[in-house]
Amino acid sequence: MARVITYGTFDLLHYGHIRLLERAKQLGDYLIVGVTSEDFDRRRGKINTHQSLMERMAAVRALGIADEIIVEEYVGQKIDDIKRYDIDIFTVGSDWTGQFDYLKEYCTVIYLPRTEGVSSSDIRAQGADISVSTTDSSGIWKKFANECEYVNGVRTTDNRDECKAIYVTSLPDKHYEDIRQALLEDKHVICESPIATKAEHVKELFALARNKGLVLMDGIKPAYSTAYSRLLVLLKSGAIGEVVSVDAVCTSLSDLSNSEGEIEGRWNSMCAWGPTALLPVFQILGTGYKCKHIVSRYIDEEKTFDGFTKIDFEYENAVASIKVAKAAKSEGSLVVTGTKGYVYVPAPWWKMDYFEIRYENAADNKRFFYQLDGEGIRYEIVAFSKMIETGKDFSNISEDVSVAIAQTIEDCILHT
Ligand code: CTP
Repeated sequence: MARVITYGTFDLLHYGHIRLLERAKQLGDYLIVGVTSEDFDRRRGKINTHQSLMERMAAVRALGIADEIIVEEYVGQKIDDIKRYDIDIFTVGSDWTGQFDYLKEYCTVIYLPRTEGVSSSDIRAQGADISVSTTDSSGIWKKFANECEYVNGVRTTDNRDECKAIYVTSLPDKHYEDIRQALLEDKHVICESPIATKAEHVKELFALARNKGLVLMDGIKPAYSTAYSRLLVLLKSGAIGEVVSVDAVCTSLSDLSNSEGEIEGRWNSMCAWGPTALLPVFQILGTGYKCKHIVSRYIDEEKTFDGFTKIDFEYENAVASIKVAKAAKSEGSLVVTGTKGYVYVPAPWWKMDYFEIRYENAADNKRFFYQLDGEGIRYEIVAFSKMIETGKDFSNISEDVSVAIAQTIEDCILHT
């Protein structure tokens, strides 16, 4: 009895998949189909499959072609599976020709001709077709536009009239007006955080988006990194006991003056870094702090540009601190202190692909590694496009966190 195995994502099951599976089955007597897990796909750069692992497995099962369905979770698993399931033939489509020749050591490898003219990527792209335009063609926009290339169905356009969504990258003071305008034009909005510099404005904009059935997304990249999401879940499950302190630092030194030697047109430290540094504070400890203490060092006489700001928060049973700076440099790490141990994320923590959980006994320490592509922007765009397409909430930042961020920025301005 010849045993055959094949692998794939099988997202939005199509004719090409069915033909592949039928021919794979005909190669032998027993067919095992390996369906890729979300994590595995993410690690190999396939980031916006539309269906969950369960849905994809159910679709393959419903065809009635496979005798057995398994999950593919890690690099190198194919060799393990071939040995474990006593496989005679490994097969995949010809788009992979040559890439699995290393398996010839273990079984026969057959590349079946790929069916022309159909792919999951094309189906995803046809379904979505989300065109994004911007308010300002800044460097931030260029990075964003570049990352859109990796997300099926999302493209950028210079034509504001025909676009479906707007990426707001203007100066923070202009966000409120720009977002309001875009929503009134029936455009979905993603905004380089903060959404506004007044908490009331953020609430108003979210209410407007809700009423119009539009997406308003707060763009804070680390919220979409796998490592950061896993870190939050680990903390929730009590990995370091109760959290007693969150300390986040974000700094960058750059030329702060424009060609006329003025700071005009630049994001100050609190607007540029505040949302990122505040994210873990509010997502780990909540937004219900008792009080906070703000200290800023300004680089202009009008006190509009903080070169450095430190904020201390006091909660019922915990504390937090953030340090942000564009005119000072420090260690950009994130430390979460708990009653049983602590989390350490090395600098620059906002590009997190790794963190450690450390305990009193160093032998118990654990290290966690995750893939991070495109600084998280790519995953942010995937979440944005899924929200537009499905109307469901795939945002990793709740409205109360966006409001608390704006409130903190507002308090910094009032504080001067
Ligand atoms: N396949 C095929 N013909 C197609 C599409 C896929 O024979 N038109 C085969 C692939 O070669 C692979 C299996 O079906 O052996 C699963 O492919 P998968 O990557 O899930 O499908 P794609 O449509 O290629 O997905 P994507 O566009 O996301 O890469």
